[in-house]
Amino acid sequence: MSPRGPGPAWTVSAWCRLPRRGRAVSSRRTVRAGVPGRDARGRDGFRVTCRVTCRGVDNGPVSDTSGLSALPGAGSAEQVDGPSAVPAPAVPSYKLRRGRMGVVRRDALAEHLSRFEVPSGEGALDLAALFGPGVPVVLEIGFGSGDSTMSMAAADPGTGVLAADVHTPGVGNLVLALSESGLENVRVLNGDGEELLRRRIAPGSLAGVRVYFPDPWPKARHHKRRLVTPRFAALVAGRLAPGGLLHCATDWEPYAQQMTAVLAAEPALELENDGPVPRPAWRPVTRFEARGLERGHRVADLLARRRP
Ligand SMILES: C[S@@+](CC[C@H](N)C(=O)[O-])C[C@H]1O[C@@H](n2cnc3c(N)ncnc32)[C@H](O)[C@@H]1O
Repeated sequence: MSPRGPGPAWTVSAWCRLPRRGRAVSSRRTVRAGVPGRDARGRDGFRVTCRVTCRGVDNGPVSDTSGLSALPGAGSAEQVDGPSAVPAPAVPSYKLRRGRMGVVRRDALAEHLSRFEVPSGEGALDLAALFGPGVPVVLEIGFGSGDSTMSMAAADPGTGVLAADVHTPGVGNLVLALSESGLENVRVLNGDGEELLRRRIAPGSLAGVRVYFPDPWPKARHHKRRLVTPRFAALVAGRLAPGGLLHCATDWEPYAQQMTAVLAAEPALELENDGPVPRPAWRPVTRFEARGLERGHRVADLLARRRP
């Protein structure tokens, strides 16, 4: 992309996956100009769209949201439910970690991710096209290794599962397991599940949202990274169908207290038991949970239903 005329200096970051070897390639370009527009909060800004091409493969248009969200006080640029939408969090709930990925998982990603991947693009996902008409769909944010995602999907093949995690080795693990299982009711996002919810899920369309053992961020200075906040609860409540279930679990007591307070305070949700309940039979013990249990941690499950 070449600089075009006057306008703000703009840095666009983009990445794409090479079709065969599956390696991510990132690119930064500084451009001038952009399309004036208003963000979700109605503030003025500029949007830049470019096409990402890797070795001759056109990966389609990429809207620069990093630039727009860098404007003071800006929210998300693209939201599926208009200007009243819940804004993006100030900081993400994760820090990207490096992780080793064996050759088997790397090959599985390169070979099978496209088959199981949440389709890229903008606007609301067509869930009926993805999973079949009338199929209830749940979103799991932060599946880790994906072991419990797999067992829940296998136990309930009539439910479509959108599974998101930012940690690529875990995504490799889940895609490998899916490719060996024959399960067809899971779609995977190697990316931010909160952003998927905010930007790609139509209001009132999910049967459930699962947040199992989100990073507890125990240090006070990191609390701002916690996923389950009043903003998140409002976002989830808006995306759930009436009767839809937000299921959170944590083994970090102070976070359990925060979750309880947050979910109880969200008017569109009804918190079962006004607090933690025993682990429901449908949720297997997750890998992260098992480690907590070994250390003697107490686990809290919280079930909050979307009011009619
Ligand atoms: C502590 S681990 C728990 C994993 C799994 N649920 C378990 O119980 O074994 C939290 C996971 O959430 C992921 N994560 C954090 N924020 C996320 C987000 N906004 N979108 C997707 N994944 C996220 C992390 O990469 C990590 O794999």
